[in-house]
Amino acid sequence: MSDLLTLAQNVAAKAYAPYSKYQVGCALETTTGQIFTGCNVENASYGLTICAERNAVFRAVAEEGAGMKIVRATVVCLGHEFPPCGACRQVLAEFSLPGGATEITFLRHGKPVTMTIAELLPETFAL
Ligand code: THU
Repeated sequence: MSDLLTLAQNVAAKAYAPYSKYQVGCALETTTGQIFTGCNVENASYGLTICAERNAVFRAVAEEGAGMKIVRATVVCLGHEFPPCGACRQVLAEFSLPGGATEITFLRHGKPVTMTIAELLPETFAL
């Protein structure tokens, strides 16, 4: 959706990405209608880097609590295109709608592509 796309692009510009130069942004809407954003934050100890998607999800949990559910999320990277990484797919799945119906949008050849988290992460690990 274009509104989340604009928010994701805006927050991507705030990314702390001095190492990869990949500025990533994520905007998501929860079942309450609230919208949360996140950008990637890198670290000199590379493994401590956290992705934009997980930062957005964790902000949403901090505000709405453990019952937070994501209706839709959009991820963009300034100057590059990719869907959420595997780690972020697993985290998005944790807070998805029943059946993995949460919709994830990303850009491919400049155009938004939307897939459900169930499509992006089939056979999701769950306890
Ligand atoms: N990154 C994200 O923020 N989300 C993804 O789904 C994949 C990668 C970030 C992590 C790192 O700061 C940079 O992009 C390059 O991997």
